[in-house]
Amino acid sequence: MPRQRPTQEPRSRNLAERSAILPDVTAAVGATPLVALDRLAHGVAPRIVAKLESVNPAGSVKDRIALPMIEAAEREGLLKPGGTIVEPTSGNTGAGLAMAAAVKGYRCIFVMADKQSDEKRALLQAYGAELVICPSDVAPDDERSYYRVSDRLAREIPGAWKPDQYANPLNPAAHFAATGPEIWQATEGRVTHLVVAIGTGGTISGAGRYLKERKPGLVVVGADPAGSVYSGDTPRSYLTEGIGEDFWPDTYDRDVCDLIIQVADRDSFLTARAATACEGILMGESCGTALWAALQCARDVADPSALMVVILPDGGRNYLAKLYDDAWLRAHGLLAEGESPRDYDWRTTRPRVVVRRDR
Ligand SMILES: Cc1ncc(COP(=O)(O)O)c(C=O)c1O
Repeated sequence: MPRQRPTQEPRSRNLAERSAILPDVTAAVGATPLVALDRLAHGVAPRIVAKLESVNPAGSVKDRIALPMIEAAEREGLLKPGGTIVEPTSGNTGAGLAMAAAVKGYRCIFVMADKQSDEKRALLQAYGAELVICPSDVAPDDERSYYRVSDRLAREIPGAWKPDQYANPLNPAAHFAATGPEIWQATEGRVTHLVVAIGTGGTISGAGRYLKERKPGLVVVGADPAGSVYSGDTPRSYLTEGIGEDFWPDTYDRDVCDLIIQVADRDSFLTARAATACEGILMGESCGTALWAALQCARDVADPSALMVVILPDGGRNYLAKLYDDAWLRAHGLLAEGESPRDYDWRTTRPRVVVRRDR
């Protein structure tokens, strides 16, 4: 049974700050809530709480890195009035950048892999961004890859600047400066585990470093889709959007994770559906990746005072035609014929690959 709600729930939001009139929408980024997942996680000893990054104004954790990167480029003279922002993005960084660019009056061109959902494309266009779509199934150094195409456009377009979320130190720095401290404050230092799905590695590296500086024994757990390099796999295509890589970005601190749990697409997608069904939180599949890793890790922790914070990077509205469409799940082998997402029970699964870092 779900455990009793404690009378004093931790709060991450500074209400006095939040009730003020903000100068523009970028000031509404961050201070996201922590929500306990007692229904999904019943039966495990640690408490699992989710940090809901979908409540950021452009809808994801990536809102946090957009403004710091843009403002540093302005200070350094790399981005001038009338300039163009060019970035390879799976969608969420694009939305955060497009939001900030709208406020500041910049043009945006985003280079995307063709596996990204139609909703993500439409969303970026709705912010006024231009899109260039590239094949997903080519090597990162292939001239057609979205990395190389964005390099070329940034060179060729006058006044163009590429934030380069895969190499920009301000990406992890934004999470060191805000995401980590928010978790620390909201849990009053009681957090014992941080679980994050790894894309550029910015979130896990920045928030993980901050929390480990505050509490050296804190365990940082990376969640990685099968087919990505972080958990030692040979790069291959997979269906989970926004996380996993086929190369090692500079923004990922290879020393930050204590363990990295590899997660199959089916477990990511069906855990996200299970969490939505019992917790009422609409989420993207990379949230399912992080949640599955957290649940599996929690099974091995006997301490009931352990407090596991899982970052849920975005919401589910961009995935209605994929993750939330049973026919799509079946067509992609994530759901068997006659099986319903409600039949899935994470307790009947176990990780096959766990990479541990000895300290
Ligand atoms: C949907 C989604 N989840 C998770 C992440 C991972 O965040 P990070 O790049 O900070 O590792 C991203 C970022 O690309 C994302 O788009």
